[in-house]
Amino acid sequence: MSDAMESEFGAVAAWTADAVRILGPEYAVPAACQGSADPLMLEWLARECRLAQRTVLLDVGGGMGGPATFAAREYGARPVVLEPMIAACRAAADLFGLKALACEGSRLPVADESADAVWCLGVLCTTPDKTELLEEIARVMKPAARLGLLAFVSDQPRPPGAPEGNDFPSETELPGLLEKTGLEVTALVDPPESADHAWQRRADEATALIGQLHAGDPRLDEARDQQQRIKKLIGDGVVRAKLLSARRF
Ligand SMILES: C[S@@+](CC[C@H](N)C(=O)[O-])C[C@H]1O[C@@H](n2cnc3c(N)ncnc32)[C@H](O)[C@@H]1O
Repeated sequence: MSDAMESEFGAVAAWTADAVRILGPEYAVPAACQGSADPLMLEWLARECRLAQRTVLLDVGGGMGGPATFAAREYGARPVVLEPMIAACRAAADLFGLKALACEGSRLPVADESADAVWCLGVLCTTPDKTELLEEIARVMKPAARLGLLAFVSDQPRPPGAPEGNDFPSETELPGLLEKTGLEVTALVDPPESADHAWQRRADEATALIGQLHAGDPRLDEARDQQQRIKKLIGDGVVRAKLLSARRF
């Protein structure tokens, strides 16, 4: 992972956990959702993946565990965060008491056919080998288990101004990518419009506090640069978010 990505997903994770301790527990889930920052999106994913009491949900590239905690609190799922950044795993355990294992998405320390559902939110574009990642996800899914994906797509893999380490799939290649790893797309939609202003305000306040506490730290500048780049590409319509669900066949 590049230095900029380490700053974005590692240093920021540790700082987010500190900021939540200052701001209060109601800030934890909004602040710990990176890329999946909206309850309507998470509800869509939860419904498509048929989350229910005791559903074993693996969140691959689960970051600080915000989405996994949403799934546990709102649907009674039993999530496990699988995430390469140790600082993010620590934040998931400290903030939410989640089980979080440090690993690459292409080498999950999980038995074959052990998951009822898998989430992989905002991760596909951060890894060069998408087939390897999806094959590994398919391996750990039970037959007929569901996958929920938040994917950022673009017509060019690396459009000008792309954040470091990002390599976007195109919208048209996504179903084929999934199919060749044994996954059949069951839905592909645009994310619903965000409506939860309190959620967004809390996420923004946590971001602002991190900015104050770590001003002058070059890792903050790197992380902010990454975030601003993706925001601009999305604002310009060059990168688009897509929600997908898939079934293992
Ligand atoms: C945009 S963040 C999304 C985090 C989380 N899914 C969420 O929605 O809050 C992308 C995450 O993917 C993780 N990641 C990057 N490369 C990965 C890989 N090869 N395998 C698994 N996770 C990876 C990063 O460490 C980061 O936590």
